[in-house]
Amino acid sequence: MAAPPERPSAKKVHIKTFGCQMNAYDSERMAEALAPSGYALTRDPEEADLVILNTCHIREKAAEKVYSELGRVRLAKARRKAEGRDTLVAVAGCVAQAEGREIAARAPLVDIVVGPQSYHRLPDLVAEAARNGGSLVATDFPAEAKFAHLPERPAGKAPASAFVTVQEGCDKFCTFCVVPYTRGAEFSRAPAEIVGEVTKLAARGASEITLLGQNVNAYRAEGLDGASWSLARLLRRLAEVPGIERLRYTTSHPRDMDDELIALFAEEPKLMPYLHLPFQAGSDRILKAMNRKHTAEDYEAIAEQVRAARTDIALSTDIIVGFPGETDTDFEVTLALASHVRFAQAFSFKYSARPGTPAADLPGQVPETVKRERLAALQALLDKDRHAFDRATVGRRLKVLFEGKGRKPGQIAGRSPYLQAVHVEGPAELIGQIAEVDILAAGPNSLTGVINSGFEWRGPVQAAV
Ligand code: 5AD
Ligand code: SF4
Repeated sequence: MAAPPERPSAKKVHIKTFGCQMNAYDSERMAEALAPSGYALTRDPEEADLVILNTCHIREKAAEKVYSELGRVRLAKARRKAEGRDTLVAVAGCVAQAEGREIAARAPLVDIVVGPQSYHRLPDLVAEAARNGGSLVATDFPAEAKFAHLPERPAGKAPASAFVTVQEGCDKFCTFCVVPYTRGAEFSRAPAEIVGEVTKLAARGASEITLLGQNVNAYRAEGLDGASWSLARLLRRLAEVPGIERLRYTTSHPRDMDDELIALFAEEPKLMPYLHLPFQAGSDRILKAMNRKHTAEDYEAIAEQVRAARTDIALSTDIIVGFPGETDTDFEVTLALASHVRFAQAFSFKYSARPGTPAADLPGQVPETVKRERLAALQALLDKDRHAFDRATVGRRLKVLFEGKGRKPGQIAGRSPYLQAVHVEGPAELIGQIAEVDILAAGPNSLTGVINSGFEWRGPVQAAV
């Protein structure tokens, strides 16, 4: 018998993702773009011929992590070099976009600097860096080129809960935020493209889709019908895709939370009762200085409307403490707003001055110790509200989408409609399925329960493609 043809030597790529869910989505797309060039993913950086750091620039700490990670990559590269193996190093994401060529100057081991709108160029950049060495920088906009050129997602089983970027960039220019500079102007993908991607994910077993965008509810794109599609219209269309049971979207801006989108919480049962809606600060003076384009009253009115549409909704938010000029009184108003709205989930941060943003140059920068104290006070309140929300689900029967194995043997883990983590004893075959769970207890970070034995299981998912 003839020997099987020799396979081209497989190369390995290690991608480390920092920051938001959009970066996680982008990392998957980068891996897919590199697959035709022979790169397979590895978790071990020392096995990798190519290391990509997909970076986050939102706060100083996030950006600094890149440089400490590059220190570790330098050691791995040196060890490989001693064994006669080369390693290419690429920095992608928002630090790449913001710092460009400076990265290569500060960390000469970096071969490629590639911004979020240029990932479709990665295979060519990698080939060129492998051939000629040197530092290559690709940090141009716009997003259209990226989505048009990224390859299709591969076949095989999809995660039970998958992310799809529908909108990128931001035109809001909050004075503390780097996003408008690193991700560029708002861009929305065509509805047909999104419906196609979701249909394929559903056929491969995904039953929940989270639509991603820095300003997702500003989504606007022309459909094949010539009409302008809003996010609400897109969600209604995606709810019709066979196999899709749950829809979510993040992150929204209060200004773009229109009546149609709010009404959808009442009208579309597949839209999960969870809304992430940052308010950033409670004081109108600070909101103005932040250029948020909404007041505390506007925010409370939206929260009330959303609650009227869906009484059980889990509201989530982002809050910044210690924005320049924030007084104790301003901060107390933030506490009051948070306590009034009662969030099921919240993410809170100390203000971090980002170079190039207007707030970085404002007078009245708040001392670190004050920021730390305010953050601790705020987080105590937010934790209390989160536990109260979780405890209120104890005794209820919730539908849980199981996404993977739990912490302990024999356990599986999933998410409630309110995005709470839920652990139960159950068969691994349920992963990828929705089952009813009687919630028994609320721990610090997750719920535990038992599967309702009367629940009819639909059997394992058959991957159709
Ligand atoms: N400092 C602190 N927090 C910030 N965020 C964005 N920029 C900054 C900054 N400069 C927070 C906001 C945003 C979340 C993603 O990160 O709350 O909603
Ligand atoms: Fe940044 Fe969000 Fe403000 Fe846009 S709306 S500038 S992404 S905080």
